[in-house]
Amino acid sequence: MSNQKASFLVVANRLPVDSVTDADGNRHWRRSPGGLVTALHPVLQAEKGTWVGWAGNAGPAPEAFDLEGVRLHPVSISQAEVQRYYEGFSNASLWPLYHDAVETRTFRRSWWAAYEEVNQRFATIAAEEAAQNAVVWVQDYQLQLVPAMLRQMRPDLRIGFFLHIPFPPVELFMQMPQRVQILKGLLGADLVGFQRPFAAQNFLRLTKHLLGLQPRGHYVAVDDDLADERLVRAESFPISIDTATNESIAAEPEVIKRAEEIRNELGDPRTIILGVDRLDYTKGIELRLKAFRELLEDGELSVPDTVMVQVATPSRERVEHYMKLRNKVELEVGRINGDFGQVGGPAVHYLHQSYDRRELTALYRAADIMAVTPMRDGMNLVAKEYVSSRLDNTGALLLSEFAGAAGELHQAYQVNPHDMAALKQGFLEAMHASDTDKIKRMRAMRRHVRKHDVQRWARRFLSALGVPEQQALSRQCL
Ligand code: ADP
Ligand code: F6P
Repeated sequence: MSNQKASFLVVANRLPVDSVTDADGNRHWRRSPGGLVTALHPVLQAEKGTWVGWAGNAGPAPEAFDLEGVRLHPVSISQAEVQRYYEGFSNASLWPLYHDAVETRTFRRSWWAAYEEVNQRFATIAAEEAAQNAVVWVQDYQLQLVPAMLRQMRPDLRIGFFLHIPFPPVELFMQMPQRVQILKGLLGADLVGFQRPFAAQNFLRLTKHLLGLQPRGHYVAVDDDLADERLVRAESFPISIDTATNESIAAEPEVIKRAEEIRNELGDPRTIILGVDRLDYTKGIELRLKAFRELLEDGELSVPDTVMVQVATPSRERVEHYMKLRNKVELEVGRINGDFGQVGGPAVHYLHQSYDRRELTALYRAADIMAVTPMRDGMNLVAKEYVSSRLDNTGALLLSEFAGAAGELHQAYQVNPHDMAALKQGFLEAMHASDTDKIKRMRAMRRHVRKHDVQRWARRFLSALGVPEQQALSRQCL
């Protein structure tokens, strides 16, 4: 293994690939789920940086290796830590709390201890791997203590932190037993980035409320043992997709052909409604299915004229809320198909699987209505992916007001998914809109995602972190 130090590091809970072992015992790498990887992978490839993260399995970590121009440095996480740090504190305490407590959050002291320990491990590896004055970009809610831990070991580094999920209002954050530690952990960064302006404001407000600091504009001054006074900046940087790559995949003849095949395989319906989500209770899959069922019951929609395709990527399958959600969703799909399906023609095509980018893009191309209706979501890249794949400006995006993307994609058919009547109305509005209206909206949204792509997001964040654009982040220093 080389002993090169990196001038640019990303530190995230997951590597962009998971290690999977097939039936014959051979190990191979598979793309990890979620929007974080979608957004960061192209950035890291361009910067030729190092990515420190977990390979998705309990136990010892594989050696560091290079993949598609990115150096990957796996971090080991034991079985007990997977349960306490990942499934426990990250996904049963923080995740529901940060998503408006749409499900009950649980706090356990043993989970917190593991969270601290694993955060310390990530910070130590980053400190060892970073060159003098390197830039380290820490990602997401699983690693909120890393900025302060890293600064303690390596005050020479420039440290950025980006939260991919919502940051809760003061009243909700205050429920967390370890609220002070989390806040101080984040304040170890020079720049703390959020998806929406409200989230940055919540954070700054909390520094005053909990720590008695005096935020001014986007800044708050902190005193730590390492410097007399240090300014921490907190601001919103809405994340995006690699639009150019998405567009070129959507233009591939095989993808266009596959989209036509999908339409045929679905029985050539007049309207295809599509949902693509991790199987997560924040995504509003249940409510979406309920709205679809009621529209069928009301006679507003009928099968096979209209069919729904719901792709639900397996996610966090050992966490209780997720197991329950899977049962509820599958029951609802069964119920709808029982009542409204036909032989060889279900009303809902439910796919509990991961897909490669081309198949997903073909689905986007085939869909007349893309239903992105989370109860709360940091951004939702699926919404942007759909828009970017509609090269002829057709199609309609039904978008929840509670997705970060709603702050940018103003021309979507926006709905409050908590209001069943409004959700049903949203479906009908998108379905019955004139072609002219849909094209006008889609064209404007495509223009937006072209301009505001993930490369621009990374440039904005890094320049706010004080990394000059001309600085060759691609250099790996000795
Ligand atoms: P989250 O980060 O909460 O999962 P996002 O919508 O921001 O939500 O990002 C999800 C990412 O995962 C998108 O890039 C999407 O294309 C990808 N994705 C979603 N479902 C699947 C699937 N079944 N197979 C492969 N990729 C998927
Ligand atoms: O930002 C959302 C997020 O939690 C990412 O941090 C994560 O990579 C993705 O969703 C998928 O979740 P998980 O890593 O728990 O499978």
